[in-house]
Amino acid sequence: MLPRGPDTPPNSPPPGPSEDGVALSEAEIAVHWREEERYPPPPAFVAQANLTDPTVTERFSEPHFPECFGAFGELLTWDRRWRQVLDASNPPFYRWFVGGLLNASANCLDRHLAKFGSKPAFLFVPEPESEPTTALTYEELHARVNETASVLRTDVGLRAGDRVTIHLPMTPELPVTMLACARLGVVHSVVFGGFSGEAAGRRAADSGSRVLVTMDGYYRNGRLLDHRSLADATVESARREGQTIDTVLVWQRHPDRYLSASPPVPGRDRLFADLLRGRRGTRVPPVPMPAEAPLFLMYTSGTTGRPKGCQHATGGYLAYVAATARWILDLRPSDVYWCLADIGWITGHSYLVYGPLALAATSVLYEGVPTFPDAGRPWRIAERLGVNIFHTSPTAIRQLRRLGPEAPAQHRLRFKAMTTVGEPIEPEAWRWYYTSVGRGAAVVTDTWWQTETGGFLCSTKPALDPMKPGSTGPALPGIYPVIMDENGREIPAGANRAGNLCIRNPWPGLMSTIWGDPERFKRIYFEKYNRRPESKDWRDWPYFAGDGAVQSADGYYRILGRVDDVINVAGHRLGAKEIESACLTVPEIAEAAVVPVADELRGRVPELYVTLRPGIVARPEIERKVVRAVETEIGKIARPRAVRFVSDMPKTRSGKIMRRVLAAISNTLEVGDVSTLANPEVVEQIRAQVRGASPGPARPPPDDLREFGTTE
Ligand code: WTA
Repeated sequence: MLPRGPDTPPNSPPPGPSEDGVALSEAEIAVHWREEERYPPPPAFVAQANLTDPTVTERFSEPHFPECFGAFGELLTWDRRWRQVLDASNPPFYRWFVGGLLNASANCLDRHLAKFGSKPAFLFVPEPESEPTTALTYEELHARVNETASVLRTDVGLRAGDRVTIHLPMTPELPVTMLACARLGVVHSVVFGGFSGEAAGRRAADSGSRVLVTMDGYYRNGRLLDHRSLADATVESARREGQTIDTVLVWQRHPDRYLSASPPVPGRDRLFADLLRGRRGTRVPPVPMPAEAPLFLMYTSGTTGRPKGCQHATGGYLAYVAATARWILDLRPSDVYWCLADIGWITGHSYLVYGPLALAATSVLYEGVPTFPDAGRPWRIAERLGVNIFHTSPTAIRQLRRLGPEAPAQHRLRFKAMTTVGEPIEPEAWRWYYTSVGRGAAVVTDTWWQTETGGFLCSTKPALDPMKPGSTGPALPGIYPVIMDENGREIPAGANRAGNLCIRNPWPGLMSTIWGDPERFKRIYFEKYNRRPESKDWRDWPYFAGDGAVQSADGYYRILGRVDDVINVAGHRLGAKEIESACLTVPEIAEAAVVPVADELRGRVPELYVTLRPGIVARPEIERKVVRAVETEIGKIARPRAVRFVSDMPKTRSGKIMRRVLAAISNTLEVGDVSTLANPEVVEQIRAQVRGASPGPARPPPDDLREFGTTE
């Protein structure tokens, strides 16, 4: 199915039914904003930038591929240098820096000690304003990582190649645990702290983790959350999937207190405080790992209910995030950098932990939500700590703007560079960010990438390319995108026509495979546009990103959204199938369908349609059960905006639920031709019901969203 793009006149009918007639994708719901004016990079930024050489694109052009990426490898310290930059003999499985040995924690810590040992690696800002900010220097971080690695190796018996599931909030213990794993060559799998115990358990089972790392509690939005209590559900849900978690390691948010209402389980739970006693000063030598050894898994949602464990390789990944942090974030050891993303998502891994630490940067690590206790909080923190690089999502920008449009003006902000990531940003919100937060003196980069890609793929080169609100920018040096139509034909470059964004070549940050399922990796990302399955030439294996996009004549890409069953809620990826399976755990529910709905603040939010089992009558209690089931199985982030009880779902003759029809109704778009449905009459019923529930033609679209064109 193809998204509609700017080439579609605003009032033309929506696209016809997709191939299988099932989904209406995010990209199709987006009627994208028009082309905007361009802003030159601020001269003061250019004067000090890391990447100012205009020949970089040429140096990373196809004739120089893949050797050009050797320069990325040079940013790292190797125990044994690589023999070959890329082994592409078995596409789409690529090996970067073949023959090289390195350790990620040594690259992030040990090699900086001589020069930057006493410089903060992290400035930890607790959510309660009464708690002081603490600085963790490179020396201190190194010490804590070593002591923790010693626990993992000696007390828990972990060895290189083992997997560990980490379910932690945004406190220093999270990067400490990740780096302790990396030091031993243990593969970490961090699950977003806001995910439920059940969700963490399913991921732990898939990765084969017998160890879970958690924390007693933490502060979020003014409340103390009992986090340790989730661990029981994690262990139980992993057990149901056949995986025993025999050890639960518990950090304490305050070393002298135990915050959780659920006591440690004897024989299974162990407090780090006990294990670390007497370990002060312990050193654990970093284990040299082959470049292609997995550094971590990051689970992400796709079209099926089963989350995919994206497996990232030590050498290629680390080289890619270090190089792109340097070029695009313009990061250096002298900067104070703040990325608001949670480490539990890929942005936090790449651009709060591995990229910045590989470059010896100083980063702010903030525990809480940006708008607590008010929308001035980020600006107070930035002013006090002298933050000069700021990195956040469009959702956070929209929220901060809505709750405190004037707040940035009350502070002395000194940003030189600001980044947005995770969702398309409306030009309106972009302009506020640029003008009110950046004062027109900071460069803004809109970076497009994915969990799978390890690091940025599209963005402006901050000192070299003009900015254009609403567009991510051209591809990064060494990345060769192409937009394909549904029939496998390339849409000519710069044609301004919507299609599926693909990358023609491999790059060092590209995930190596899906954990335990290489066939699925090949099928999901590479089969769609591969014409010669037996080919051993990477040129035959374009990477299918799952996003709709258009490219304008100037080479900039505008991202329209997902073309698959993924819903991007506030910049966080959720699988439609996962949400639906959660609903089906409620015994009264017969069928469930979830659709993305445009939302003023969060970009997209899920809305649910359900049918009930025979004899069951809709009542508020069932709705509450459904919402609770979604929160329990996934987490609060997936909470639906509405649960709509319908008598029947619109279905194809083969019995598939037509989510696209429901999505059109929820977004007050035209439903298009429904005459081929098995039950076309339900469409009108559902539409009347939804309209009745929210009276009027549709809520007038909020200013920010006017361009989404969600009114009929
Ligand atoms: C979306 C987050 C528009 C896109 C790094 C992608 C974006 C999905 C942008 C990946 C952007 C990410 N503009 N859309 N700058 N960046 N996306 O895996 O749909 O959590 O496929 O990685 O977010 O989400 P993920």
